[in-house]
This record gives sequence, structure tokens and C-alpha cells, in this order.
Amino acid sequence: MSGTPSYKALPYAPFDGLLDFRGKTAVVTGGGDGIGLAIARRFAEAGARVVVGDLQAGRTGELAAEGLDVRHVPTDVTVQEQVDGLLDAAMAAHGRIDVFVNNAGIYPLRPVDDVDGAFWDRMFAVNCKAMFFGAQAASRRMKAQGQGGAIVNLSSICGHKPMPNHCAYDASKGAVLAMTRNLALALAPHGIRVNSVSPGLTATPGNLKPELFRQLQDSGVLDHIPLRRQAEPFEIASTVLFLASPMASYVTGTDLLVDGGWFLHGI
Ligand SMILES: NC(=O)c1ccc[n+]([C@@H]2O[C@H](COP(=O)([O-])OP(=O)(O)OC[C@H]3O[C@@H](n4cnc5c(N)ncnc54)[C@H](O)[C@@H]3O)[C@@H](O)[C@H]2O)c1
Repeated sequence: MSGTPSYKALPYAPFDGLLDFRGKTAVVTGGGDGIGLAIARRFAEAGARVVVGDLQAGRTGELAAEGLDVRHVPTDVTVQEQVDGLLDAAMAAHGRIDVFVNNAGIYPLRPVDDVDGAFWDRMFAVNCKAMFFGAQAASRRMKAQGQGGAIVNLSSICGHKPMPNHCAYDASKGAVLAMTRNLALALAPHGIRVNSVSPGLTATPGNLKPELFRQLQDSGVLDHIPLRRQAEPFEIASTVLFLASPMASYVTGTDLLVDGGWFLHGI
């Protein structure tokens, strides 16, 4: 070895390109409605070609009708072959995958005594196992491309603090936080960043079901959210876009709570 070692700085990243996803492909699971639909919209607005994997097309057609580059591939994320099919469809249509968002999730609630094995297994199949195998399948393709990538997993405020009747859900979302940190470590050598977003109470079809909404109102939960309102899905989507973008080029293995300050307060 000869010569003096010298520090090599990354070239400066001008502001203009930091949220520019033109030429990039984003795959979003559970993008047929709710937070996933808002994520699909945000990435498409930022110039990405977006492929949504969901059981149902849901409202993705509305985005396409607006001229946004969003297509739906019927996918059950709990079936690995279907997730492979989703990613293959994205590769066939666009030739690359730059962003993978593990958003599909379920949140049925049961008191501890009513949780049985089937309930627990279903919760973990969708909210945890499918996220791992989705990230595995997406990162294999990103590694082959050799240009890095970004994976964002949807956890929840429930991964950080307990909610009544949420035992199985809380556990599945806590697992997402741990898995995110592990994947970040494993994929960093390939330039693939892995982060999670933990929404608080967000106004989506799943959460606005009348019986659940009534429970939320009766429990006085909104009084405990410092910003005194639910999140809109686009507010969660903006955070996902940030984490996947060059704005967050040095961010990996972390979780962003987007909860209106709810974590700071009691239930
Ligand atoms: N809404 C909230 O308040 C809130 C809070 C914290 C975290 N989250 C998390 O955010 C994510 C999205 O939640 P949401 O409220 O938008 O949900 P939602 O129920 O409104 O929509 C979920 C979407 O996922 C799809 N989906 C469900 N199971 C699927 C499967 N097996 N395969 C493919 N697609 C499937 C549904 O068809 C639907 O389009 C979830 O991971 C959820 O746990 C939501």
C-alpha cells in the first residue's frame, strides 16, 4: 500500500432530484385502497411507474384514469408464488424494481381469551410472514440489478405500545420492527435500504368501518392524540415516499412514527 489514504465524499445531491422517481418502478402491496392506495398515488405523482399487488383492484383504476402510471396485479401476499408473479409482472412491464412497499395488512381485534391458533396464524401470515418473503423476493431482484433499492414496511403505533384487544396485531407489528432492522443490516452491503413507518390512527376504509369507528369514538381515543385528529392516508404516504427517496439516502433500519404525537400520550 502506498500513498496517503484520502476521504472520498459522495457527490452533492441537488435539491431538485431528491423526490424525483422518474424512470423508477415502485411495487406496493395492498394498494387497492386505504394507505396503500395513497402510497401508490404519491409514487406515481413523483414520476414512478407503480405496480400494485392486491387481492382486488379496488380504486387503482381511479389513479390510472387520472393518467397516473399505476397498474394492478391480482395478488394474495400470503402466497409466495403470487408475490413472485407480482414482481415478475413489474419486471416484464418496466424492466426494474427500485422500491418495494410492504403495506398489505389486516387488523381484526379479539380479546386475549378469544384468540385461537387460526386467528394468530392468519394475523402473522399477512402482517409478518408475507412481508418477509415479499422483501426477500424484491431484494433478490434488486441485488441482481446491482443499483441498490429501498424497501419500506408498514408497522404501526401498535408495534410500539399496547392497545386493548390488539394482542395478536401488536405482536405482528412489533415483529415488523425487528424484521426491518435485521433486513436493513443484511441488505446494506447491496445498497438496499430498509425502513418502516408506524402510522397512528389513520382514516382508511379498514379503520372507518362503523363498528370500529364507534369503538374509537366511545373510547375517547381522539382526545389522547395531541394533534386531535386521525391521519389522512396521504400523510402516511408522504413519509413512505420520503424514506424511499434520495432525501433519506443515509437512513436505514429505522422506524418513523407518524401518529400525531399519540405515542407521547396514554391510550
Ligand atoms: N389505518 C390505520 O389506522 C393503520 C394504523 C397503523 C398501521 N396500519 C397499517 O397500514 C397498512 C394498511 O392499512 P389500511 O388501514 O390502509 O388497510 P385497509 O384495510 O384499508 O386496506 C388494506 C388493503 O390491503 C389489501 N389486502 C388485505 N389482505 C391482503 C392480502 N392477503 N394480499 C393482498 N392484499 C391484501 C386489501 O384488499 C386492501 O386493499 C396495514 O399494514 C396496517 O396494519 C394502518
